Amino acid sequence: MTARYAGADHDAVSDATLDVSPSQFVVIVGPSGCGKSTLLRTVNRLIEPHSGHVYVDGRDNATVDATELRRHIGYVIQAVGLFAHMTVAQNIAVVPSLLGWDAQRITTRIDELLTLVHLEPRAYRDRYPRELSGGEAQRVGVARALAARPGLLLMDEPFGAVDAIVRASLQAETKHLAQLLGKTILFVTHDVDEGLKMADRMVIMRDGRIVQEGTPLQILTHPACDFVTELLDAHDVVRRLQLLRVADAMRPGAPASDGQPIDSQATLRESLNAFLQGANTLTVLKEGAPAGTLHFADVQRVIEGQAQ
Ligand SMILES: Nc1ncnc2c1ncn2[C@@H]1O[C@H](COP(=O)(O)OP(=O)(O)OP(=O)(O)O)[C@@H](O)[C@H]1O
Ligand SMILES: [Mg+2]
Repeated sequence: MTARYAGADHDAVSDATLDVSPSQFVVIVGPSGCGKSTLLRTVNRLIEPHSGHVYVDGRDNATVDATELRRHIGYVIQAVGLFAHMTVAQNIAVVPSLLGWDAQRITTRIDELLTLVHLEPRAYRDRYPRELSGGEAQRVGVARALAARPGLLLMDEPFGAVDAIVRASLQAETKHLAQLLGKTILFVTHDVDEGLKMADRMVIMRDGRIVQEGTPLQILTHPACDFVTELLDAHDVVRRLQLLRVADAMRPGAPASDGQPIDSQATLRESLNAFLQGANTLTVLKEGAPAGTLHFADVQRVIEGQAQ
């Protein structure tokens, strides 16, 4: 698929081929202007490809009514795009109303969604967007995109405008929601760490082209070119540790009596923090019960093993 804006002398997206499986969390990263947003917008037909085709659920987008298509694809953007003159509830209700849901079903759905994104329905449903913090507005944006149960969600720098702490919790919540609801997600960011944290599959773009795709670990350990290495800082061992779990390096068996606890699903990067604070041995918990130990040497082994 190729996309070019009217009057432009080059393609915004050039020859991009991408096949996304259901329930995949795909993150598209790359520098500013490389075509990430353009690629995303061809999926909900905000932009028509110049050549090639885009298929959603096996149907060629060009053969589907654009408005109808968009009702079945959630879209979240950085500026949130909430309607300022509508309450939170009315914002969330937009697509369900268009789809003709009855009032009771919409009301139930609004409360269900607000709860899902951790906003207490009674406290938030009648507020206006100007009465929300940036992070709360983003949560409403996500709730609105999910309202009519779209199978596919497009997210374009959805957390760009919030501070680091809120951003981290929105990332965790979104990833959790994606798994819980089994949504297919196309997520654009230029924050590589955000991409590594959330992606099942990562797509790296440069100058309108897809230069590499794969799991975060595949890309980090086998970057296709110097550009990818630089973009991902692929030599950064600490970053690799973020992709491995305590369970991958632990020693099963009797836990140390004095070990600080850590969950087996925590990342090795998180374990590093505990070691940096002076812990010698960590007690690994599986579903809350002690299941083994992690020594700093175990983490070192992993670092050395990966560096080869
Ligand atoms: N409406 C438009 N009209 C003309 N050219 C555009 C338009 N929108 C984007 N472009 C151009 O298309 C190219 C790709 O833009 P795009 O918005 O897809 O980049 P991006 O990767 O999303 O960047 P960013 O990270 O800054 O959001 C750029 O060269 C940009 O200048
Ligand atoms: Mg963009």
